[in-house]
Amino acid sequence: MTTSKPDKVEEIRKAAERLDAEARSTDELMLGITQLLNERMLKYNWVGFYMLEPGADPPMLVLGHYKGAMTPHTRIPLNQGICGAAASTGKTVVVDDVTKDSRYLACSLETKSEIVVPVFKHGVVAGELDIDSHFPAAFGLEDRELIEYCAGLVGKSLEGKQGKTS
Ligand code: SME
Repeated sequence: MTTSKPDKVEEIRKAAERLDAEARSTDELMLGITQLLNERMLKYNWVGFYMLEPGADPPMLVLGHYKGAMTPHTRIPLNQGICGAAASTGKTVVVDDVTKDSRYLACSLETKSEIVVPVFKHGVVAGELDIDSHFPAAFGLEDRELIEYCAGLVGKSLEGKQGKTS
């Protein structure tokens, strides 16, 4: 394998763009992104979307498409977990060592690090893209930018910029 990391990241970014161009709905785009990132990025062992339940009071994150082991956390309130932290602040959260973060809700004993990136629709958090790794500190700047890019594609799709309605 001679591909350097930035080349690989660029390749995945282009693949995500193609998925976006070809997807007939946001749902299909989210499914494609979970598959792409889980299959092509060695350290992305669990990749999934949590979306805010429409009209829920208090707000609730609900598990959508995901690739990886089953998780007990299918519904997460905004005051719980790394997921709740990212959605309530609207900021990407990167945790290099999940054992050192008291907010962490365990999904798998193998998980060592995690990143959660909010998905924005018209500037408001609509959900998030959550990725767990079996490797500590798996998410560097390149990873963060790639994952934020993918979350951005979903946000734009939700806004219907490409004629997608769901
Ligand atoms: N670890 C997350 C919960 C979701 S699982 O990782 C799939 C959290 O702390 O919010």
